Amino acid sequence: MFKTINTNPFTEVHECLLIGLKDVPKKFSGLLSELDSKFDNQLTELVKSGDLSAKMKEITKIHTFGKIAAKRLLFVGLGKEKDLTFEDVKESFGRAFKEVNESGLQTVAIALDTFITESISPEDAANALSEAFALASYELIVYKQKSNEPEKTVEQINVITSADHQEIDAALTVGYAYGKATNSARSLVNLPGNMLTATDLAQYAEDLAKRYEFEVEILEKEEMEKNGMGAFLAVNQGSVEPPKMIVLKYQGKEVWEDVIGLVGKGITFDTGGYSIKTKTGIVGMKTDMGGAAAVLGAMEVIGELKPEQNVVAVIPSTDNMISGSAFKPDDVITSMSGKTIEVLNTDAEGRLALADAVTYAKHQGANYLVDVATLTGGVITALGLDKTGAMTNDEAFFEQVLEASNEAGEFIWRLPITENDKKRVRGSKIADLNNSPGSEGHAIMGGAFVGEFAESTPWVHLDIAGTAVTNKEYDLGPSGATGVMVRTLALLVERFEPIK
Ligand code: BES
Ligand code: ZN
Ligand code: ZN
Repeated sequence: MFKTINTNPFTEVHECLLIGLKDVPKKFSGLLSELDSKFDNQLTELVKSGDLSAKMKEITKIHTFGKIAAKRLLFVGLGKEKDLTFEDVKESFGRAFKEVNESGLQTVAIALDTFITESISPEDAANALSEAFALASYELIVYKQKSNEPEKTVEQINVITSADHQEIDAALTVGYAYGKATNSARSLVNLPGNMLTATDLAQYAEDLAKRYEFEVEILEKEEMEKNGMGAFLAVNQGSVEPPKMIVLKYQGKEVWEDVIGLVGKGITFDTGGYSIKTKTGIVGMKTDMGGAAAVLGAMEVIGELKPEQNVVAVIPSTDNMISGSAFKPDDVITSMSGKTIEVLNTDAEGRLALADAVTYAKHQGANYLVDVATLTGGVITALGLDKTGAMTNDEAFFEQVLEASNEAGEFIWRLPITENDKKRVRGSKIADLNNSPGSEGHAIMGGAFVGEFAESTPWVHLDIAGTAVTNKEYDLGPSGATGVMVRTLALLVERFEPIK
């Protein structure tokens, strides 16, 4: 797919040559001035007339009519060089690749050195390039009888750079792994509930384990009963689909210590149960396994890149259905931890599933925990559709998650969990906890509940109810599932340092 070459970008034959254009150049310099003179200074004229612009993400396509070996030039605006961020570069590549894909071009060359700045190294640019290529080329799977004509896709990307080829190749590999794994998560989330049951998700995890030699364990209902996972089992009670507790282990260190536990909510469809959702609120609830998809996507990156870390992934998976056997509001259930829970709302099912999954992760040796879940509508009310809500019981661990999310370009924003919030989830008259203490601070109640099971283990909760899907197409993908948190989790694992 990628080939790193060090040639003059203007002498080699390419279908298309992609160039990053920084600042509004009064006069071109370096590579671009060479290009301009090959065009008898017509590029300068195009800039003057406003037909060629360095405005952020603006695309300009020019046919070269034999002035250089490449058939077409594709410029992408990068704005002001001093303001250019890593994320901007990634999104600009995304815009450009969308353009290339739409044009049906199969090979593209990239003048990588036109994308670097004082703060963006050639390796950074290469990483952004390959990740953006994977992300921007992702297509939604549709089930129409008349599928569109199979589209031509880019098959060869020639990366032209004077930088060290080994380093560039390594960066391309890493970025591509991150992008592809994010796409895997997107595909899982986009699958309708009838096409992705807990059994299907477990099979997916088993296949992943086989591919990357992870240790895998799928707990069946009987084993869950033996383990006393009464919270998770309650959610499954109304379903005809068997529940699965999916466990993957990756050991990248000699000793099974400093283990990072990644826990993902895997509700394949959430009707709300007897606290049933409205007819509009229920649509889209096939995406209630976005946390599970994020964890599996991160495991894919980990399998590809094999960092020196230990990771256990735990995914409680079931749908949340209604039937004569379903759990009900007022039920009291006992979690694996021994804590009893008064169910006030069967639609607050995610936290019940996570409760036992978090406990199980700790039993498997997790010393640090991150749970990812489409947990509450409340986080959308609080933060909107573009921010993941974060909560924690450990400042130092949160700092590492925040750094990973910054590097991944996946925005997270912290919400507090105060003593008063803890009091509210502990506020049942008849049980240790209640699963729905009222609508004030909804998102926090979800986090605070899960935190009761993390106990003193350093833990971060990521509520992706707003960010797991988008209804708008964007530079790095189509509308639908975003694969959010795959890259944050994978980066967290890659960069993780045990807390002393
Ligand atoms: N799966 C939902 C949360 C959700 C809402 C995800 C919208 C994506 C979009 C979750 O199980 C839920 O229903 N939460 C309730 C909790 C409440 C009943 C305590 C909510 O937030 O309304
Ligand atoms: Zn629910
Ligand atoms: Zn849910």
